Amino acid sequence: MIETDVLIVGSGPAGSSSALFLSTYGVENLVITKYRWTANTPRAHITNQRAVEIMRDMGLEDEIKAKGVPNHLMGDTVFCASLAGDELARLHTWGTHPQRLADYTLASPCTHYDLPQDIFEPIILGEAARRGSRVRFDTEYLSHTQDADGVTVQVQDRVGGERYAIRAKYLIGADGGRSKIAQDIGLPMEGEMDWAGSMNIVFHADLSKYVAHRPSVLYWIMQPGADMGGIGMGLVRMVRPWDEWLIVWGYDINEPPPEVDEEVATRVVHNLVGDDTIDVTLRSTSLWGNNKMYATRYVDGRVYCMGDACHRHPPSNGLGSNTSIADAYNLAWKLALVLDGKAAPSLLDSYDAERAPIGKQIVLRANKSIEEFGPIFDALGLLDTTDPAQMKANMEIRKENSERGAAARAKLKAAIELKNYEFNAHGVELGHRYRSGAVIADGTPEPEFTRDPELYYHPTTWPGARLPHAWLEHKGERVSTHDLAGKGRFTLFTGIGGEGWLEAAAEVTQRTGVPVVALVIGPARDAHDIYDDWARAREVQETGCVLVRPDAHVAWRSAAMVEDPVAELGRVMESLLGVL
Ligand code: FDA
Repeated sequence: MIETDVLIVGSGPAGSSSALFLSTYGVENLVITKYRWTANTPRAHITNQRAVEIMRDMGLEDEIKAKGVPNHLMGDTVFCASLAGDELARLHTWGTHPQRLADYTLASPCTHYDLPQDIFEPIILGEAARRGSRVRFDTEYLSHTQDADGVTVQVQDRVGGERYAIRAKYLIGADGGRSKIAQDIGLPMEGEMDWAGSMNIVFHADLSKYVAHRPSVLYWIMQPGADMGGIGMGLVRMVRPWDEWLIVWGYDINEPPPEVDEEVATRVVHNLVGDDTIDVTLRSTSLWGNNKMYATRYVDGRVYCMGDACHRHPPSNGLGSNTSIADAYNLAWKLALVLDGKAAPSLLDSYDAERAPIGKQIVLRANKSIEEFGPIFDALGLLDTTDPAQMKANMEIRKENSERGAAARAKLKAAIELKNYEFNAHGVELGHRYRSGAVIADGTPEPEFTRDPELYYHPTTWPGARLPHAWLEHKGERVSTHDLAGKGRFTLFTGIGGEGWLEAAAEVTQRTGVPVVALVIGPARDAHDIYDDWARAREVQETGCVLVRPDAHVAWRSAAMVEDPVAELGRVMESLLGVL
């Protein structure tokens, strides 16, 4: 029988990332995936700062930079009647407003990129294979049984048809929104699937003349009277600037699925662009359902689900693949420590505790973002009538020099403002604070949010939060606190006078076998806080410390030097690892 330590089902963002992280950490793993290759359409594309930080830790940021569309071409999001027609509003998105850019730049060493899933997945999976992952395409998961020592999985080769078994110590169910594994282990799900239907049309057409002066990844089109979709809203999404595109168009999911042949697809493209003279080369069409469903538990015994298997939601806020990658990043280091015998299996309980609340949060956020198009429709008078001619007339009211014209303009302005919760939700993207056994409380209360927690990221070293970013000078280079952390090990940051923590880290490393790299931040020390940014961010005294987990979340902190740092750090690490 084929044996492996971790069997990963699925090669999407969750599965391929799991393979990459596990191989990087030296864990034997095997990926099986149903189809002959990775994602065959662009699908998810917004790659947020957190996902780029994670890939930076894996050494892949340069490749993302080389193949992704940079942030400055992503953010002039347009709301219009057609690309060639009337423009209703424009919103700086993904942190590109000069005022918001400061928030984003201060928060992370990384920027957003637009990286379509069919380009991103091969980067991740390719690197995973280079680092040791085995990958079997055309291989379908059928069923599994588990016992005290492992999981036996029945699979089928979809080319030859033969069935065989794979034995693994752990099984990762990264098999997407129709996850059979989540179903087989009976994950408790809340919400509903397929509450609305969407169609994707992928095509080539040079649209530079309509978009290059307002570069964005998203062009929202309000087109009352269009022959499919209730209110007539469509999305023209940039895949590659400015000649490869994906249109998302709604259809009534309660009706039989529409036939989208070349003629229909080309007509939709021409309508939304507002120019039927452009040459269109159709690439593909597909139908998909919008979901509002999340699992309240991700785990059963030795089976761990992640990604869309656990959280299923519309593309709004661009959270799909980003969250899936972060799920994988959360679990991988824990599995590595447990499989290496350095942590008790109880460490794995923290995966569920930490990621399930985020899954719920993003499912609800993404769905709310769809609802928040309602005020735009309202402002344009699209909800007052079902007659397309009247809708179009209502859209003209905002141009009038009249009281109702002014009211319509004010309403539209407020409605567009609300879309910041979809397109500039920095707090949703970076603000995760974990609560679990893998976070050791320091006795301080959770810091209050001083600004809107969805729109703004609130940096803190409160245990469980993501490590704040600060630029430091290190060995003649400018590096982020995130560059010094990560790499599959724990990092302890202290300052001048905190040297006692170095001895503690060395001692604890030796005792537990789990590396804790301790760094003194200060002039002529391991790294120099040249801008004083770390001093402002660390929330502990110079002699205190901040202990950071391999996934760049704070494990614990100490406000100042303690009497017996060896005992204190030992207690913390042993409690976290479950080896007390
Ligand atoms: P994902 O679905 O990517 O991968 C599942 C994997 O499991 C695949 O490799 C599949 O082959 C494999 N698999 C499934 N069943 C199997 C079995 N029985 N045996 C073996 N392998 C099996 N998100 C977003 O943020 N913006 C967007 O624009 C879009 N657009 C979009 C369009 C379409 C058509 C889809 C289907 C999805 C999107 N999404 C999206 C969602 C986004 O793609 C999604 O959140 C991530 O891909 C989730 O990553 P996962 O790895 O969890 O699943």
